[in-house]
Amino acid sequence: MVNLSRCIAQVGCILAICHQASAAPAPRRTVWEVVTVTSCPNNACATTAPCTSTLSPVTKTLTTTECSTSEPVTTTFESTSSSLTSTSTSSRYTAPPSGNPYRDRNFNTIHHIYNLTIFPNQVPIIAFGASAVPDGLFADHASGRISPVGNFTDFEDSIEYFFALPPLPISNKNSAAFTRFELAQFSSECPEIASSTVYLYAEVVNATSPDNGKLVSILKQTGFWRFNERGEVVNYDLALIEVDHFIEELTSTDYNDPAAQQELIHTTCNAQALRCNGKNAQYDSIEHCIESLSAKPFGSYTNVWSDSVVCRSIHIVLTITRPDAHCPHVGPSGGMKCVDYDYKTRQFDDEHLWGRTDLFRCIA
Ligand SMILES: *[C@@H]1O[C@H](CO)[C@@H](O)[C@H](O)[C@H]1NC(C)=O
Ligand SMILES: *[C@@H]1O[C@H](CO)[C@@H](O)[C@H](O)[C@H]1NC(C)=O
Ligand SMILES: *[C@@H]1O[C@H](CO)[C@@H](O)[C@H](O)[C@H]1NC(C)=O
Repeated sequence: MVNLSRCIAQVGCILAICHQASAAPAPRRTVWEVVTVTSCPNNACATTAPCTSTLSPVTKTLTTTECSTSEPVTTTFESTSSSLTSTSTSSRYTAPPSGNPYRDRNFNTIHHIYNLTIFPNQVPIIAFGASAVPDGLFADHASGRISPVGNFTDFEDSIEYFFALPPLPISNKNSAAFTRFELAQFSSECPEIASSTVYLYAEVVNATSPDNGKLVSILKQTGFWRFNERGEVVNYDLALIEVDHFIEELTSTDYNDPAAQQELIHTTCNAQALRCNGKNAQYDSIEHCIESLSAKPFGSYTNVWSDSVVCRSIHIVLTITRPDAHCPHVGPSGGMKCVDYDYKTRQFDDEHLWGRTDLFRCIA
């Protein structure tokens, strides 16, 4: 067992206890992890217990876990609801581009959304779900498409995509997370529509590592947004560019390697055994899951939206927040998400997704 303590900036403090099963016996059980996020006055951070906080933290336990040994271990993912802040976040393009009120409003909304993908700003949303999302960012029925991940057809779906999927340092072997972003391109020629390109910088977040702060990779997202009269996002049509190369760099893993593919199947199956239980159970056993996923195409990060292992490895992340909604996507049938839609449906069927095809045009 490794106890490790990381303080993020001055106030946010993360205590993570991770256990990596030793290389030895099969079947390989991957990880259990405990993350407690709490406020740490004066950057004081205890290694074996959460640091004391003057605020009374609202905590929420999100998952229970498996273990490589025989005794059961509990995994908690806790967050104080209000105390988490980071001072290390920055964007190089912070000034709204103009004195034009709707351009500035739209810019600020998008800026705020991306700011919440920056670690650890997203942690309260992972822990508390929709209630931790500030008002004014997404409309109640927000829906959109994010290639190559999928379509998202309501508010919860949308915010989970934006805020639950960004990497956590504990979820990859580089300990990388998005630490800053740059809204590199932005335009908004009418109140309803904006287009943007963002660069999300993934850097090592590990205070005890000599690599702390080192750039691991950059993810580019580009596309269009539509706003309602209150300035909330109602629709988005966005694309992640070369996400396969980003994932490869983020995880330092070559997913063409059969051993890496097997490992992802094991990780996904172990995680679903923890989070998809009772009425959310999808497989009879971990072995059944491994057998089922090994028989599926591995897939690729250039098309996550498919009946593949890769798709399930993405959707398993979302089961932390809402197992009832997301466990079926990891199951044998793919629960309508990890299923094969044809290319033209995925990319061009705006009529089906939004009921119209001109959503992202400024119409005078
Ligand atoms: C980004 O989020 C951090 C943490 O919540 C906050 O301190 C900072 O002011 C935000 N920056 C912008 C430009 O919104
Ligand atoms: C953080 O870095 C230290 C020093 O390189 C290393 O021993 C430790 O395993 C790292 N922690 C994680 C979670 O990667
Ligand atoms: C969007 O996703 C839903 C299920 O989440 C699906 O029923 C629908 O067909 C999808 N739309 C398109 C255009 O693929």
